[in-house]
Amino acid sequence: MAVRYEQAIPFGWFALAYSSELSIGEVKSLQYFDRELVLFRTESGEAQLLDAFCPHLGAHLGHGGTVKGEHIACPFHGWQFDGDGVCREVPYATAIPSRARQQSTIESYPVVERNAMIWAWYHPQKKPPNFEVDAIAEIGSREWTDIDVYEWKINTIVQETGENGADVAHFMFVHSSPEMPKGEVTMNGVKRTTLLMNKVPKINEQGETDATGEDWEFIEVNSVNVGPGQTIQRITRAFEVVMMGTITPIDDQSVHLRFVFTMPRSQTDMNQVFAEATRDNIVGGVEQDIPIWNNKRYVDKPILCDGDGPIAKYRKWFSQFYAD
Ligand code: FES
Ligand SMILES: [Fe+2]
Repeated sequence: MAVRYEQAIPFGWFALAYSSELSIGEVKSLQYFDRELVLFRTESGEAQLLDAFCPHLGAHLGHGGTVKGEHIACPFHGWQFDGDGVCREVPYATAIPSRARQQSTIESYPVVERNAMIWAWYHPQKKPPNFEVDAIAEIGSREWTDIDVYEWKINTIVQETGENGADVAHFMFVHSSPEMPKGEVTMNGVKRTTLLMNKVPKINEQGETDATGEDWEFIEVNSVNVGPGQTIQRITRAFEVVMMGTITPIDDQSVHLRFVFTMPRSQTDMNQVFAEATRDNIVGGVEQDIPIWNNKRYVDKPILCDGDGPIAKYRKWFSQFYAD
């Protein structure tokens, strides 16, 4: 198949896993950033991410590797590496080879744990982070529900999925909006804030959306993008829903998209129904976008018309996450 995307993988913080998926001593093999990776949680509880292949003779640390204290031990000959990829132990040698002892011989990635997820910083030239993952107070709060999660693997790139918010015209064709959403986009460094007033079908008391096309209301959607890999959406009607979207490059042609939702525990039953219906609408919405993303290609010099949204502005903002 022809290559549809020529962009490099952008740099930034990208979600790897839910925190609950990685218990102490657990080892996982992952494929992100067009690399084979190993994620593990040490005895002290730190999540660490390394490239997967052992520098000794090339075994995959994610297939049979085990946690020993703060290290991961290779399944092939037992060499142990710390979270920086420095060799700390060769069980059958009198001395660790100096090259492996004095410096990292496996690429390591900065990792943070926030919003019930484990995130890694990816930069093709290994530059250190220049921003942070936004903490979302509602996720993990006692007053808010445990997260509901949805995920998809899509043949597209991070830049394309983000363009959705700027592409106001597609809401009428892909999402059956009766008119184009009116909004305001502000870009401030790595953050992009979109305030949309969206005309949407009313939800009835059973939580069903009006299908007659006659009953509409406006909802305010506040969405904040923090770098390329994190979106936070707050939807406020009479009820509240908070959604965190994460998007992680698998390689330069595909991504792993996750939506995480939380709602206030103390909502009335009716508002709970509304909140769940809104969540289902958001999930249904992205499932309308996916067939387009899975099959389209990137047009570098699009022919735009006066009704199109701030697509050029969005692309200029996104370009800050490409290393060259
Ligand atoms: S290949 Fe890893 S210890 Fe030998
Ligand atoms: Fe969309």
